[in-house]
Amino acid sequence: MLFPDYRPRRLRKNEAFRALIRETHLSPAQLIYPIFVMPGKNRREQISSMPGVYRLSVDQLAKEGKECLKLGVNSVILFGLPEKKDPMGSGAHLKDGIIQRAIRELKNSVPELLVFTDVCLCEYTSHGHCGIILENQIDNDATLEILARTAVSHAAAGADMVAPSDMMDGRVGEIRAALDEENFDTVPIMSYAVKYASSFYGPFRDAADCAPQEGDRRGYQMDPANSLEALREATLDVEEGADILMVKPAVAYLDIISKLRDEFDLPIAAYHVSGEYAMIKAAGAKGWIDEERVMAETLLSIRRAGAEIILTYFAKDMARLLQG
Ligand code: PBG
Repeated sequence: MLFPDYRPRRLRKNEAFRALIRETHLSPAQLIYPIFVMPGKNRREQISSMPGVYRLSVDQLAKEGKECLKLGVNSVILFGLPEKKDPMGSGAHLKDGIIQRAIRELKNSVPELLVFTDVCLCEYTSHGHCGIILENQIDNDATLEILARTAVSHAAAGADMVAPSDMMDGRVGEIRAALDEENFDTVPIMSYAVKYASSFYGPFRDAADCAPQEGDRRGYQMDPANSLEALREATLDVEEGADILMVKPAVAYLDIISKLRDEFDLPIAAYHVSGEYAMIKAAGAKGWIDEERVMAETLLSIRRAGAEIILTYFAKDMARLLQG
C-alpha cells in the first residue's frame, strides 16, 4: 500500500495517537544513578566538568538515597575517592574503606535502595591504572585476586550487586567464584563487558581523580573501531557468570548495544558516561540546545537501541521530568 492509499501521518495526528503506538518507554526504575563518595564530614563538592553532580561525604548519602527513591530511581552505583592511594590499590578492599562505609550507611538508612558498586582499582592505585603494575606491565592475573577481594568486601558490607569495570581478562569468573565461596552466591554481577578506551571518560577522571599518571588504558579497554570483539568479550562474560552485560559509553556505541541485544538473552545495560553528560550540559548552558529535551531524546535512543538499564548522571533529572 502506497501513498495516497497509505498515509503514516494518520497515526501521528495527535498526542493520544502518538502515545498509542509508542514503541519505547523510559521509566525511572530502569535508571541507575552514579554517586561519588569522598572522605570528610558534611561535604558536598560540585564537580566542575559535570554541573549538577557532586562528590558527597558519607554522612550526606542518606539524604541523596532518599531523594533517589522518592523519584522512583531505585538503584545507585557508588564510586569512591579513598583517603590514601598506593601502588597495589589496597584501599579498594579495606573493611572500613570509603566504599564499604558508604554501602553500610546507605543500607542502614535507606534499605529499599539497591546499592551497586563499581569494582576497579584505578581510584585506589597511586599510578591510576585499573590493575597493579609488576615489571612495568599491568599484570592481569595478579590483579584478579585483588579485584575478587574487593568485590567480596563490597558484598560483605551489604552491596546488592557488583560491577567490575577494570577490563582485566577473566575477572568475572574470578569474582563469581570468590563471591560463591564466601556465601554471597545471591549477589549478581553486572559486567562492564564491553568497555571502550574512550575519551568520553574525561570528566569522570577529574571527578574520581583516577587519570593514569603515565600511559593510557588502551592495553586493557577496547579499541573503538571494533564490534566483533564486543561480541567475543560479552560471550566470555556470559560464560564466566555475568548476570547483566554493560556497554560503555552509550551514544557513540548504540550499534554495539543493538548487536548485544540481538545476540544475548541477558539484560543489557548502557553507561551514558561523564563526557556524554558534560556535552549536553555545556551546550544547554549556552542556550544552543534545549537541555531537557536533548536529555530525554538521548536516553530514549539508548533504550530504543536495546538497553533495558541506563546508568546516567541525568537519572534524577529524567525521573523528575517523567513525574511531570
Ligand atoms: C573505572 C571507571 C571509569 C568510568 C567508570 N568506571 C573510568 C575509566 O575507565 O577511565 C567512567 C564513567 C564515566 O565517564 O562516567 N575504571
